[in-house]
Amino acid sequence: MIPTRRFFLSPFVGITVLVVLLALYFRSSFRSPSNERLFTAEELALYNGTDEKLPICLGILGSVFDVTKGKSHYGSGGGYNHFAGRDASRAFVSGNFTGDGLTDSLRGLSSSEVKSVVDWRDFYIRTYTYVGKLVGRYYDSQGNPTKHLKGVEAKASRGAQLLEKQKIEEAKQPNCNSQWSQDEGGEVWCDVGVPRLVQRPLEIALTGQMSKRCACFKEDQLDQAGLEIYKGCDPLAKTCRV
Ligand code: HEM
Repeated sequence: MIPTRRFFLSPFVGITVLVVLLALYFRSSFRSPSNERLFTAEELALYNGTDEKLPICLGILGSVFDVTKGKSHYGSGGGYNHFAGRDASRAFVSGNFTGDGLTDSLRGLSSSEVKSVVDWRDFYIRTYTYVGKLVGRYYDSQGNPTKHLKGVEAKASRGAQLLEKQKIEEAKQPNCNSQWSQDEGGEVWCDVGVPRLVQRPLEIALTGQMSKRCACFKEDQLDQAGLEIYKGCDPLAKTCRV
């Protein structure tokens, strides 16, 4: 009895194990690469809109998108053709679309600028088709995020927090209305209160620079420190020329 059962079971078990292993192998090899691809800078450069037969792709923070449907912007002769076939992350905030400006380095940018590049990446995620990763500054040769990408994400989220805090702070003291025309020049005015120039408190942390805004203050708030009267404007005037 026992030898016979062994004779029948062994080939059956062997074949079953083989079938299971083959199924696992094929399942994982079909699934793992999905439709994501790793690009070198040279490969990405082929998709710059010059070859009509190829899709147009751009990189931002190492993520690569097919932007062919935006051909009028990104194709040859388009206003944003410089973004095609490369990762020019920095140019999304600098607006410098030439020479050294076309770099993926965000070195020295403020947290709000870095956040703005991350917002552009979100725009591409929403609007175009994600196709893969560019191996280099932001992804390593295995497609894993580098310390640069992690640094950028962290700085952008600090920027987002600061911007949120600034919004809350500034809402406490409403902005002045303002208008500008070639003939009349500029003017600021308040519906309630009077205009004063004030330092934006989080601006240094956000942008690395000092910046002022026009805010409206009621008469009983005018003795606060740091309120600047517009030059040539009556201290209690509701409207000032700038
Ligand atoms: C830092 C500067 C700037 C950057 C990085 C930038 C970037 C871009 C990008 C990437 C697009 C294409 C969006 C898409 O795929 O649909 C775009 C569209 C556009 N940009 Fe800019 N831009 C800048 C400044 C400007 C300025 C100064 C103007 C106007 C004076 C402008 C006007 C436009 C217009 C009108 C469109 C939409 C065109 C359309 O949908 O037909 N941009 N911009």
